[in-house]
Amino acid sequence: MQVVTTNSELRLARNSLPEPIGFVPTMGYLHEGHLSLARRSKEECASTVASIFVNPTQFGPNEDLSKYPRDLERDLRLLASVGVELVWTPTPEVMYPPGFQTWVTVEELAKGLEGASRPGHMRGVSTVVAKLFNAVGPQKAYFGQKDAQQAAVIRRMTKDLDFPIEIVVCPIIRETDGLAMSSRNAYLNPEERQAATVLFRALSAAQSAYKKGERNAETLLRTMTEIIHAEPLAKLQYVSCADYDTLEELETVRGKALLSMAAYVGKTRLIDNFVIG
Ligand code: PAF
Repeated sequence: MQVVTTNSELRLARNSLPEPIGFVPTMGYLHEGHLSLARRSKEECASTVASIFVNPTQFGPNEDLSKYPRDLERDLRLLASVGVELVWTPTPEVMYPPGFQTWVTVEELAKGLEGASRPGHMRGVSTVVAKLFNAVGPQKAYFGQKDAQQAAVIRRMTKDLDFPIEIVVCPIIRETDGLAMSSRNAYLNPEERQAATVLFRALSAAQSAYKKGERNAETLLRTMTEIIHAEPLAKLQYVSCADYDTLEELETVRGKALLSMAAYVGKTRLIDNFVIG
């Protein structure tokens, strides 16, 4: 497995790889969710490239950029164990040289949900992913359903900007008790870790209400909200029942819908979602 830092090293290494190339962009501190993306790429592509870059432009001023968990050596070991051929670990200077001022903004899809709670976050994501796509030039790119809005924004951007890349969105990987895997789970103390299953429990309750015939979005939202409120260590930031494609809030669930939420457990902000319908 080759590990490179600069754009020119990347170009050289990438051009010697057999195509199709599958790309797995990450911010490191890898878990089974990331590895499932890399494995899927290995199954579907001749070569797999991963990137590890904690992207400063997708963190708000009061967010956890400086304490975001990092362990490059472990990440590289894990990627090698899955058979990834090339890893790009650009520095912030490589990605954002002095004078940088060009942004990619997906207008409507980025407005609600995470976009509303974390101003600038989605712009940071779409900009860095566009740059990563340009540099790596993959035929396929792999993202997790856990960041559902991110996946929708990237799908839209890829289409709108004519990137010749197929976006593959892979299922959420969960711990045995239902907690969605996330690098941020590392922040949870044992008590918070137990409480963190409340997101999964709330989504599961709404899903079973849906399966029993409930179609009123307000009722589904209330079901989720009550369960989160009953957990003393959790503080709800938002719950949503939105159209799967447009991410517009629904009154009635008719087709495919996205139930999603963000909640603080202690000081750690967690997100999760289920697709229904
Ligand atoms: O999902 C992530 O880890 C990040 O948002 C991504 C796509 C690597 C962009 O920084």
